[in-house]
Amino acid sequence: MTAKIQELLEEVEQLQASTKEEAEALRIKYLGKKGLINDLMADFRNVPAEMKKEVGMKLNELKNKAQEKINALKEAADSQDHVADDLDLTRTAYPIQLGTRHPITIVKNEIVDIFSRLGFTLAEGPEIEDDWHVYSSMNFADDHPARDMQDTFFVEAHPDIVLRSHTSSVQARVMERQQPPIRVICPGRVYRNEAISARAHCFFHQVEGLYVDKNVSFTDLKQVLLLFAQEMFGKETKIRLRPSYFPFTEPSAEMDISCDICGGKGCSFCKHTGWVEILGCGMVDPAVLEANGIDSNVYTGYAFGMGIERITNLKYKVKDLRMFSENDTRFLEEFKSAN
Ligand code: PHE
Repeated sequence: MTAKIQELLEEVEQLQASTKEEAEALRIKYLGKKGLINDLMADFRNVPAEMKKEVGMKLNELKNKAQEKINALKEAADSQDHVADDLDLTRTAYPIQLGTRHPITIVKNEIVDIFSRLGFTLAEGPEIEDDWHVYSSMNFADDHPARDMQDTFFVEAHPDIVLRSHTSSVQARVMERQQPPIRVICPGRVYRNEAISARAHCFFHQVEGLYVDKNVSFTDLKQVLLLFAQEMFGKETKIRLRPSYFPFTEPSAEMDISCDICGGKGCSFCKHTGWVEILGCGMVDPAVLEANGIDSNVYTGYAFGMGIERITNLKYKVKDLRMFSENDTRFLEEFKSAN
């Protein structure tokens, strides 16, 4: 009898079933009322008393193993049946919707790319800044209107902490830890406390550039900006610089490019002037160099800054600034080919 039990144990281990019906047939064969294991149970009576304990244990083991194995076979067959029910191998795959890069990212990458070819490296800094890096080190007088509540978002309870209103703060951070030559561009988001409309938003994006070295001149600045404008807007693009004022540059200028809609002849886009403004620039004020630990008797530098939204508007003729932050996929998908 022990040999018979052993034989069945090995047999049970090897059982296979590919459907629920086959598994049920096995259950009847081994575990049914008239099944092989019950037959053995019936024979148990004839086992000599001194062997009853050992044979009984073996018999129980066989029954448990058979039950476990057949249940497992049933479950496996069951889940396979389900898969087979739901799976249509002839069906085409679900279309995966691919996202697109945001137009601001596309244009930012393009600007960064142009300046990195001209030897500029990337610098980034925090959006929540202290007054020193945003204003004081940039030569803003204490009563400068840009510090005013109308312009700056202050962090409540910390009048010294602001949301940066330009990425010049990153230039300050670079200068305080690095001696010239410095040649960086600083892209990032900036905040200004303005009413939201088609032409203004409470946040937008900038790329600012800074070059400090020995003998850096205004001519260098003009040449780099001309190269940039022609790379960005086409080889025919002309630039002009108009005198302006910024606390951190002296002299300062604003740069216009020839209107690429009318080719400079004058249209409603350029307000019939033939020119559109794209950035502010100038020679770094010696007071800014000194405030940031750079000797202004040895070094000079230039800086420039532009709004990415403005450049994007010029390239893609987006009329309403709010489109950039609404995440309307119909708008974003229009930039698929530019990705
Ligand atoms: N920081 C200026 C702004 O936010 C831009 C600028 C940068 C102008 C560098 C001149 C030089 O408007």
